[in-house]
Amino acid sequence: MQTTFYQTDRISTFLASKKVLLGYGAVQHVGEEARKLGASKIMVVTDAGVVNAGIIEMVQKPLEAAGLTSTVFDEVLPEPPARIIDACAQMVRDGGYDLIVGLGGGSSLDTAKAAGALAVNPGSVLDYVGLDILPRRGVSTILIPTTAGTGSEATRVMVLTDEASNTKKVVFSDYLLPDAAVLDPTLTLTVPPHVTADTGMDALVHAIETYVSAITTPYAEVLALQAIAMIARHLPQAYAKGSNRLARYNMLLAANLSGAAFASGGLGAVHGLAYVLGTEYHMAHGRSNAIMLPHVMKYNLIGNLEKYGKIAAAMGEPTADLNPYEAAERSVAAVLALMAAVGISPKLPDHGVPAEDLPKLVTGGLAQARLFVPNPRDLTEKDVETVYRNAF
Ligand SMILES: [Fe+2]
Repeated sequence: MQTTFYQTDRISTFLASKKVLLGYGAVQHVGEEARKLGASKIMVVTDAGVVNAGIIEMVQKPLEAAGLTSTVFDEVLPEPPARIIDACAQMVRDGGYDLIVGLGGGSSLDTAKAAGALAVNPGSVLDYVGLDILPRRGVSTILIPTTAGTGSEATRVMVLTDEASNTKKVVFSDYLLPDAAVLDPTLTLTVPPHVTADTGMDALVHAIETYVSAITTPYAEVLALQAIAMIARHLPQAYAKGSNRLARYNMLLAANLSGAAFASGGLGAVHGLAYVLGTEYHMAHGRSNAIMLPHVMKYNLIGNLEKYGKIAAAMGEPTADLNPYEAAERSVAAVLALMAAVGISPKLPDHGVPAEDLPKLVTGGLAQARLFVPNPRDLTEKDVETVYRNAF
């Protein structure tokens, strides 16, 4: 257990949703929560997959039971394009909706957050890219994740795609935090194994990156190390048997803790170097992060041997008799073993990335250099190339 925190010379912040409901059956209380927020007209923001899977009824029924009707916007796309967010926001404005319920993976939750904010702020979501540009708090939001991964329900961040430049843009605002997060593992029981693996690894990357971040906070450290231990133990179980209720519960909680952690303590070079894999090869966000994780960790180790040693221990590695360097290296071994268990190769060619694309990756990685700032070891262009090379 950590008993001393070292951030005494700077101000740390911690933000979270106002309320969290966690547990099997939590979604049945969404109607009560909507009533408490004074909602009269509700829009559920989701994607077609969630509607087709029948999960939408699990939200609409309790709303109806509370005497509330809802309209569904189901056009959310992965890495949500600004035009979809703007279209959703325009429907919210035109219809006078006063509560947005986000239901789905990170893209649905992010779109819901943005639509809630844009309900009272004019223009396009692109007008608010950056830090604290949104001038006013939006309408109320309730966020209900259906995957254990992004932790979007715990953050003040929304990520979108600017199709004009094919780049990722980010809106940061306290106004994007939801009024309530509903964490019901029932909704995750049918997530297929490969999605369980990708999203679970994304949560692990959030926890590891923020734990070793140069701008971490006491809150991030506590939550992240706890989440790392939970994911190491329960992700293989959730992957092996989707109906494992204990594993699903702990993974959904761990993803939420990881989200709250990185919202407080920042991310790092794994997200920075993985991004280009998503845009160039249409890899799922979690998959691209998983591939880069062991290579970035290996590179980063000397930046914080003690913390990587603690990560190894949290993941179940016996480190007591090892020197600091050996203990830190065990964290990479633990991550590689976890990835093998959930069927994710750490080698780029296994994911359709040819070796001759290395220069393209380096350029794409350097474009996200803002994420190198909190990374525990600095990266030059040559270092970026070395890390990618190790992934081939
Ligand atoms: Fe992520």
